[in-house]
This record gives sequence, C-alpha cells and structure tokens, in this order.
Amino acid sequence: MSFLYCNPNVLLVKNNYEIIVNVLEQGVCYIKVGRKTYYANNTGIMPSVNLVQKFLIPQKHLDKQKSYTVCYKRVFERKSYFPEVGEEQCVTYAFKPIEKEDNVNMIYTADIHGEWDGTKKVASYFGDDLDLFVVNGDFAESDSHENLRKLSKLIGDVTGGSLPALVGRGNHDTRGALAEKVTDYMATYDGRAYFDFVAGPLSGLVLDCGEDKLDDHPEYCSLNFFEQYRKDELTFLKKLKLADRPFKFAVCHVPFMSSRSMGGVFDIMPETYAKWGKEIDRLGIEFVICGHQHELDYVSSTDPRNKFPHSYPVIVGANIHGGMVGSAVTFKKSGTTVKYVHESGEILREFTVKDGYER
Ligand SMILES: [Fe+2]
Repeated sequence: MSFLYCNPNVLLVKNNYEIIVNVLEQGVCYIKVGRKTYYANNTGIMPSVNLVQKFLIPQKHLDKQKSYTVCYKRVFERKSYFPEVGEEQCVTYAFKPIEKEDNVNMIYTADIHGEWDGTKKVASYFGDDLDLFVVNGDFAESDSHENLRKLSKLIGDVTGGSLPALVGRGNHDTRGALAEKVTDYMATYDGRAYFDFVAGPLSGLVLDCGEDKLDDHPEYCSLNFFEQYRKDELTFLKKLKLADRPFKFAVCHVPFMSSRSMGGVFDIMPETYAKWGKEIDRLGIEFVICGHQHELDYVSSTDPRNKFPHSYPVIVGANIHGGMVGSAVTFKKSGTTVKYVHESGEILREFTVKDGYER
C-alpha cells in the first residue's frame, strides 16, 4: 500500500461502484478489473494533481471478478513535453459483493464529528460477517483535505477495501473552506449527493438535505443554493423507480419528517419536504434511517411528531453523546432487526423494524 493513503472505498451508486482512491503523492491512477482498465472520468486526461480520485465501475463486472487492482504512477513533473513519471505500482484487493439473499449485515453510522476511533469500534460489531458499511453525514469539518480524507481512511479501515459502503452527506459537511470538495470523497451521480442504489438483495436511495436552515440564514452569507437543490431532488424523486429487491430502505441525514428535528429556525421548506415524503412512501421502502439529532430515536408511522403522514418507520440510529453509538442492522425475510451498538460493544436496544419500540 506504499502509494496509498488508505484502503480504497468501494461506494454504492445506482448499479455501479464508485471507487475512491487516496494517494500520498501526486500521480496518475487507474483500476484494473479482469482485463478491463478503468480511468477517472476526466475528458481523456489522467488526473495527477488531486490526491483523491474516483473510478466508476459497473457492479456486474466487479461482482463477477471479485477483485480489483489499483495502479499508480508517480508524476514528478507534468511538463508539456516528456513529463517525468515514475514506475507503475499496483495493489490488488479482493472484493466481497453482497451475494446473500437473507441475513445481510449492515453497520450504520452517522454524526461522527471527528470521533473516528469510536466509530471504528462500533463498526467492528459483525466482525468478518459485515456486508455493508454506511456513513450518513456529519463526518468532521470540511475545512482541510486532511479532515476530508479521514472519511476515506475510516471506510478503508472498516471495509479493508473489500466490502461495499454507502455514504450520505450531512449538514456539517457543507460547511468550511473545502465544503465544495467533500463530494470528491463520496459517490455522486451527475455531481449530486442523492441517488438510488442496488446491492445484492438491497435497493434504496440516499437523500441529501444540504444545510439545516434556509439559504438566507446569516451563518451562510448567501454561499449556498440548497433551496433549489431540494426542489431538484424532488424532481428526481418523482421520476424515481427503485430496483425490485426484497429489502428496500432510504438513508437521509436529517429526519425531515419529524418535528423533533424540524422546529423553529430548522422548520424549513415544509411543503417541499412533505412532497419528498409522499414520493418516498410511493417507493415502498421498509424504513428510513437518519442521524442529525444526536439522540437515538424510533419514529413510527403513527408517532405524533410526524409532520406529514407516511407509512414507513424512521430509525434515528446514531448518537455521539456518551460515546459513539451506531446501528447493527440485519436484513431478514422474517423481519429486519436493529441493534443500537455502543462503542464499548454494549447493545443499548434491540428491536425489529416492523414493531419498533415505545419511546
Ligand atoms: Fe447534522
């Protein structure tokens, strides 16, 4: 791994994987899967300035081959003629696609806010039987590349570059000098951090609320246009059809359907969010899993805090207070189970998605 900052991240997006590669020094990268070589999508030029690069690979291809090789050449000086380039170095990773049809194990984390070690402890819950790792926003502050690539390091450490992961953006990730670069470290579709995905028997969508207050809030000094972005996202949702899979769910940092998160200055665009909710209901998902509140929660479809009707429960499955807590989710045909796992290994609560629990 001499040229790599950390293990690659194999991220779900639509029916592809987007592999995120972080290198230590400027150079070009490419990924070999079987006999095919994949390049960063950069108009025919292999990028060498950015230390993070993305590679879009069809799931079908990597799922069949079950391994990929990251290759790198150091670029010492990209002269106009005869650049100075180092020797090719390569590292091969085994890859484990989700091939189970039942008992699929997912670790869900959110609201990390720089607590990487605690999050890693939570993520170790399933040991070698982990199938999917989810990080749902508020990673750290988007104020330096060093902070941004700690997300890649976490995912690389947890998955070993050999398991799929899913990443959603949180409101804090939109803040800081390098906020515009955070999506370099995440899968995106057409430049946007909301998209649908499939993975074995799972399908679903990742939503992106952007900031948690209106664009004209003085904290932002008019540097965002999330109100338009959320409307565009509604257009996407209206057209969306999820792949037909036994287990469908949605990942969204902000529980926009609950008054617990959407009060006062945070109660933004209620009509648009109600329309989001209607479209998500149409998709027939089993649950939405959220973060943001810094408080574990389960919001059933009949919970009085619901801002608009919906038929799915909402799991707020992460908490940073008192040590990191995440969720160990097992998708089961007999009923999906959720365990709230503290970084100490203690199970704070266990329930089936269908039945939930009383607050
Ligand atoms: Fe948040």
